[in-house]
Amino acid sequence: MAAWRQGAVEVRGPRPIAERMSQIHIVRRPYLLAHRGASGYAPENTFTAFDRAVAQRADGIETDVRATRDGVLVLMHDERVDRTTQGEGRVADLEYSAIQRLDAAYGHPGRVEAEAVPTLEEFLARFGGRVGICLEIKQSGIESAVVEMVRSRGLLAPRPWQSAAPRGKAVLPPVSFTSFDLQSAAAVARLAPGSLVGHLTPEFDDAAIGRAIAQGLNQICPPANLCTPARVQGARERDLSIRAWQVRNREALRTAVLALVDGVTCDWPDWTLDANK
Ligand code: G3P
Ligand code: CA
Repeated sequence: MAAWRQGAVEVRGPRPIAERMSQIHIVRRPYLLAHRGASGYAPENTFTAFDRAVAQRADGIETDVRATRDGVLVLMHDERVDRTTQGEGRVADLEYSAIQRLDAAYGHPGRVEAEAVPTLEEFLARFGGRVGICLEIKQSGIESAVVEMVRSRGLLAPRPWQSAAPRGKAVLPPVSFTSFDLQSAAAVARLAPGSLVGHLTPEFDDAAIGRAIAQGLNQICPPANLCTPARVQGARERDLSIRAWQVRNREALRTAVLALVDGVTCDWPDWTLDANK
């Protein structure tokens, strides 16, 4: 297999097209998940942000799942409602009836009108099967309820997920799962065998790869700025999919694209995936 150098690192496999032929703007395209919906343009984790993501042709939507005190699965990033709504308190301490009274667009500069906090059920009913969905488990203990809701809607992966070839098209199942909590991710992998389940990790090294594999996961989700062609290839050779997060600027996106990751999360679904821009 051909070898080339990225800085001090020898990389096996094809050099990214963008680097071989800088006069043309073609790169292997990772899929783009709109992070909390099109949250760069609309209040995060609202139907406005999700609809905007679809309108901007995102390949999928990433969102965050928690449970209220009475067990309703809702989409909210923070443990507390304080930052994104007019309310206060922990989601896990509030009844759904209280969550229903909150405005999820509260204080957002782009707010047009009040927005409900979406439930997972509403979200799956509206977007399931239309775009790839990535559910991040934000609260330990809800794994089974989340998987069963996805299963009941027929949205679990139709066949066991398989690694994409290095230059093949990335595969995005109807619903994939992630968590920063390795045990939560492992629980989902046991409950939904064959699904794409990733560990969100701030590290991207052999130890992080080994932890994901040891827990039966098939995806690792490192920060974009840690993605190099060599690291991505190393993870892929161990049959992991690689999806980058923390794409906070165009340089981070470019880094991930050039490293040939399978996918990214990004607040701005309309950003180009052309590494030369
Ligand atoms: O893409 C993963 C990303 O969603 C993880 O970070 O804090 O936005 O949930 P956070
Ligand atoms: Ca998230």
